[in-house]
Amino acid sequence: MKIKFCDLKAINKQYGIDTSVFDEVLDTGNYLLGKQTEQFESNITKFLSNEDKTGYTITCANGTDALILSLKAVDISIGDEVITVANTAYPTISAILNVGATPKFIDIDPQTLLMDINQLELILSPKTKAIMIVHLYGNMVAVELVKDLLRKVNREDIIIIEDVAQAFGSKINGCSAGTLSDLAAFSFYPTKNLGALGDAGAVYTTNDEYAKKIRALKHYGMTGLCLHYHQGINSRIDELQAAVLNQKIKLISSVVQKKELLYDRYQKGLRGSPYEMVMQTKNAHPHWHLLVIMARSGKIRDDLRQWLSQCGIETLIHYSYTVANLKFLASDQMAHLPQTLEASERILSLPFNIALQESDIDYIVDCIKRFD
Ligand SMILES: Cc1ncc(COP(=O)(O)O)c(C=O)c1O
Repeated sequence: MKIKFCDLKAINKQYGIDTSVFDEVLDTGNYLLGKQTEQFESNITKFLSNEDKTGYTITCANGTDALILSLKAVDISIGDEVITVANTAYPTISAILNVGATPKFIDIDPQTLLMDINQLELILSPKTKAIMIVHLYGNMVAVELVKDLLRKVNREDIIIIEDVAQAFGSKINGCSAGTLSDLAAFSFYPTKNLGALGDAGAVYTTNDEYAKKIRALKHYGMTGLCLHYHQGINSRIDELQAAVLNQKIKLISSVVQKKELLYDRYQKGLRGSPYEMVMQTKNAHPHWHLLVIMARSGKIRDDLRQWLSQCGIETLIHYSYTVANLKFLASDQMAHLPQTLEASERILSLPFNIALQESDIDYIVDCIKRFD
């Protein structure tokens, strides 16, 4: 039996995408900034907004740009520090570096693998301009606790940006990931919870000034015909991607349901085994993007990975960075992140997506148990 980590062809078959929409887009002759994009922005806004809080969605070319545009919207640049975690997809870090700011890494909670909020006060400095919260694997950081801490230490000047690339559809205390901060960056990279057939991203904010600025920044900094108040970049979603995403977002609740079924199957199967699943944050309702287990040591993780490969099961590691991988970052920061380093050695991501059946999960769990 062969189980791929992520078979995008099989996953997209599950959606039954109506490809006649490609002809429709072709016939409009309008391939950028058209009706599909407008519709998609409105769909995301509707999905995220609640009765007392409506925001703005500004689409862009990918999740990395969404992070960069968010940072630029609040003028973060050279000399500023942005606190984030080191166990994230590298684009979180590259976005900070791209605006000239310095990433300051905070260690993680060893059970949720998310930012350890208890350490935040220690790492704040007069140069801290923003905190980039990463809702890793779809699990959610308790953003309200971050805000409480900033209030307590009189640092409400610090901007909170959520990196929601992995957590579209996740909630905490009933609030959607992306709605709890100043700005939130989404990725619709093909493997994500809501994935295009190519690159796509978006920023969500409830602040109309930020929204206006990002709309200009993503479009050559243009605020009117040939009027450029900002330097700007070119970062647009194209109509074909927006058309696909408009279809897929309609099915998001059934996607969440199927993922929950598979997640429960793993949870039941692995109960009592020496492999812990990443712990869910209190009061969170994650739409899991990845299913990550932790072995007791790096050696066991590596041996298990090899055994699963022999069983035909593809696995990955999210993420195994050490400072050695980030060669251009002259930094000894990793030495101060013991939990991040330890987790990077023990974690293993198992196949987890809507193309899988419960019987596939049973097979994977059975293979894991046979390794013991
Ligand atoms: C946590 C995180 N942030 C940012 C990104 C960047 O998104 P994109 O690949 O769409 O640029 C990704 C996806 O790769 C991610 O997982």
